Amino acid sequence: MDPVRNPFSPGAGTPPPMLVGREEILMQGDILFRRILAGRSEKSMMLTGLRGVGKTVLLGVLERQAKELGFMTIFHEAGEDSRVGVFLAQGLRKILLTLDSAASMKKRARKALLALRNFVGTLRVNVGEFGISAEPLLGYADSGNLEADLTELLVLVGEAAQEQRKAVAIFIDEIQYFEKEEFGALIMAFHRIQQRNLPMVLVGAGLPILPALAGELKSYAERLFAFPNVGTLTREDAVKALVVPIQKESAEITVEAAEVIYEKTSGYPYFIQEWGSRVWIMTPNGEKISSDIVEQATESVIVRLDESFFRVRYDRLTSGEKVFLRYMAEIYQGVPIKMEEMVKIAGKKSGTLSQVKRLLEKKGVIYAPRYGVFDFTVPLFDAFMRRVMPKLPENRKF
Ligand SMILES: Nc1ncnc2c1ncn2[C@@H]1O[C@H](COP(=O)(O)OP(=O)(O)OP(=O)(O)O)[C@@H](O)[C@H]1O
Ligand SMILES: [Mg+2]
Repeated sequence: MDPVRNPFSPGAGTPPPMLVGREEILMQGDILFRRILAGRSEKSMMLTGLRGVGKTVLLGVLERQAKELGFMTIFHEAGEDSRVGVFLAQGLRKILLTLDSAASMKKRARKALLALRNFVGTLRVNVGEFGISAEPLLGYADSGNLEADLTELLVLVGEAAQEQRKAVAIFIDEIQYFEKEEFGALIMAFHRIQQRNLPMVLVGAGLPILPALAGELKSYAERLFAFPNVGTLTREDAVKALVVPIQKESAEITVEAAEVIYEKTSGYPYFIQEWGSRVWIMTPNGEKISSDIVEQATESVIVRLDESFFRVRYDRLTSGEKVFLRYMAEIYQGVPIKMEEMVKIAGKKSGTLSQVKRLLEKKGVIYAPRYGVFDFTVPLFDAFMRRVMPKLPENRKF
């Protein structure tokens, strides 16, 4: 059918034609934002989930929700060398300048701006001119200790916002990429914000290691954040995510065809978009999308996935890491793996294997859902490993 009217949108952070199955999280977000606006305390939120489940999309929708309710927002996608201080300094500067001018030099906004200028001094990076000239405000956010300075700065920003009956929401995607010290400082700062009941909220998203990571850094993290899980879609939601967008384009798909796609994708949102997009293209104009077409499309969808979604992860691996993942795929049964099982099949000491495992965790390819076990962060990666390396490598160089 007409590729221009193809409703599906496989991609990273690309909004789907229909966002299904996330009503509860959006409701939770709405309650959080409204409570903060009403001056009540509420746990901040960290969305967690595997690759391609829709965390970025959801974070975008939550940001829109917050904006509509009147929040001033900052959105940041963390990368492997992101620094909390740098992006916050840039985002907060804008917010403080708005607060400062909106209220004809309200004292607190001015004070926070000066503290921000001090804070930037401790980062030793250039984040642009501040656009204010005033006597330095010594002793605020300038100690060089990130935890202390960030906390002080964010409290001042919170007070400035409170004074003008405004609220600030900070959104951070891929939050697990921050160095431990940086993430710890952020958690600490929000702990203080929550204790002080200031109108500020943090909404993060990242891999399912987040609760464990945050808890390890600050034991109170689990009381500070809610960690809603963004998971696979139910059969019913997956069918809806396919049927409704197609109907909106005045085309048709049979329920069986949609169910076959659900089976093949296990309900993973990204895969649903890929299959949807492909079957749309392969169906002749005016015909109903049938399960036959889904079967025909499957081979080419898998080739496409192998060349893009899976490949970008695979190409960043060393040969030892690839071998490790291939062995992992060999014993994988859809549930987390224990190190003893790897030792048994790979015939190597657990020390050697643990080293590779740590590197793979750092790259975000595997993660530990619980102590003592590990799993793939990318859905269906085990099948990909078996396709790309059909035979178990004899050479067990990890
Ligand atoms: N609820 C949903 N229903 C249908 N499709 C969805 C849904 N949520 C996301 N998608 C689609 O899934 C794909 C992946 O979404 P997104 O990039 O937000 O995932 P992610 O969890 O951030 O992935 P990653 O961990 O790789 O960053 C996009 O193509 C998006 O359109
Ligand atoms: Mg994402």
